[in-house]
Amino acid sequence: MAQHTKSTYTLNTGAKIPAIGLGTWQSKPSEVREAVKVALQRGYRHIDTALAYGNEEEVGQGIRDSGVPREEIWITTKLDNPWHHRVEDGVTSSLRSLGVDYVDLYLIHWPSSTDPNDLKKHLPDWNFVKTWQEMQKLPVSGRVKNIGVSNFGIRNLEILLNDPSCKIVPAVNQIELHPNCPSPKLLGYCKAKGIHCTAYSCLGSTDSPLYRDEALLKIAKAKGKTPQQVLLMWGLQRGTSVIPKSVTASRIEKNFELDGWELTPEEVQKLSSLPDRFKVCRDAWLPIKVFFGDDE
Ligand SMILES: NC(=O)c1ccc[n+]([C@@H]2O[C@H](COP(=O)([O-])OP(=O)(O)OC[C@H]3O[C@@H](n4cnc5c(N)ncnc54)[C@H](OP(=O)(O)O)[C@@H]3O)[C@@H](O)[C@H]2O)c1
Repeated sequence: MAQHTKSTYTLNTGAKIPAIGLGTWQSKPSEVREAVKVALQRGYRHIDTALAYGNEEEVGQGIRDSGVPREEIWITTKLDNPWHHRVEDGVTSSLRSLGVDYVDLYLIHWPSSTDPNDLKKHLPDWNFVKTWQEMQKLPVSGRVKNIGVSNFGIRNLEILLNDPSCKIVPAVNQIELHPNCPSPKLLGYCKAKGIHCTAYSCLGSTDSPLYRDEALLKIAKAKGKTPQQVLLMWGLQRGTSVIPKSVTASRIEKNFELDGWELTPEEVQKLSSLPDRFKVCRDAWLPIKVFFGDDE
């Protein structure tokens, strides 16, 4: 049986991303420092943050508080939409806030380049292909070890990968994945292109409707596991890394009890075929549409 808490996925760069990370979206600065410290001391070796979360400074403090050496920790952060034409500045800002001299993974947070002077508008004469051209300059600096994308569906990945300026295939696509948003086509597409997928909102996010799902509750009861552990195991057994968010020490602990047991293929299949659908993160708040329903 896999020891998921110690396992990694090898990216197309050869780097190894730990299978389980701590998410930090909506983790208040006052709470996230302790959460990151608790997680790292418990054994997590992967922290997911973003400039847009407004908590990189406290994430960095939590990392230092933990006493775990920097080189043992995988840090992912993300380029915010209004920074698409200032990629170098975005990296500098995140490194300064985190208090580190490199990040392991830097992602384009959304395939949407927002005008910093008017967040409702798309940046004139710019798009994510141009952003990726700037992203591709990062690995040589040593300040960013791997580059990737987030919230890219098949249509936008095709645009990116087919552009002649695309010399580096993204190492990771971080996307929403849970049993009510399983996106098998997008997962298959990324696999075929050598792009690893990280599952965000892997528990269904705040007030998850999944916790009322009878099929999930039945499987959890039968296995003597929590519904959250079953959801995380489902993500791991599909070959994705998972980044559950919690600021509650007991939940951070429980969410990491993922060694020495597994779901049966039937249980995985059952969870993959739940009839309900919902998406936590949509695109109505962005100046352009980024989801086209081609990913399910
Ligand atoms: N790239 C993107 O655009 C994007 C978008 C969304 C998320 N993300 C990343 O993915 C991470 C995870 O997604 P998410 O934050 O949306 O949601 P999530 O991890 O699916 O769920 C987080 C919610 O579940 C609760 N929770 C965690 N463990 C629990 C447990 N064992 N029992 C009961 N409740 C539990 C948390 O509460 P407490 O914290 O109160 O314990 C929180 O309300 C984010 O934090 C972020 O790092 C990325």
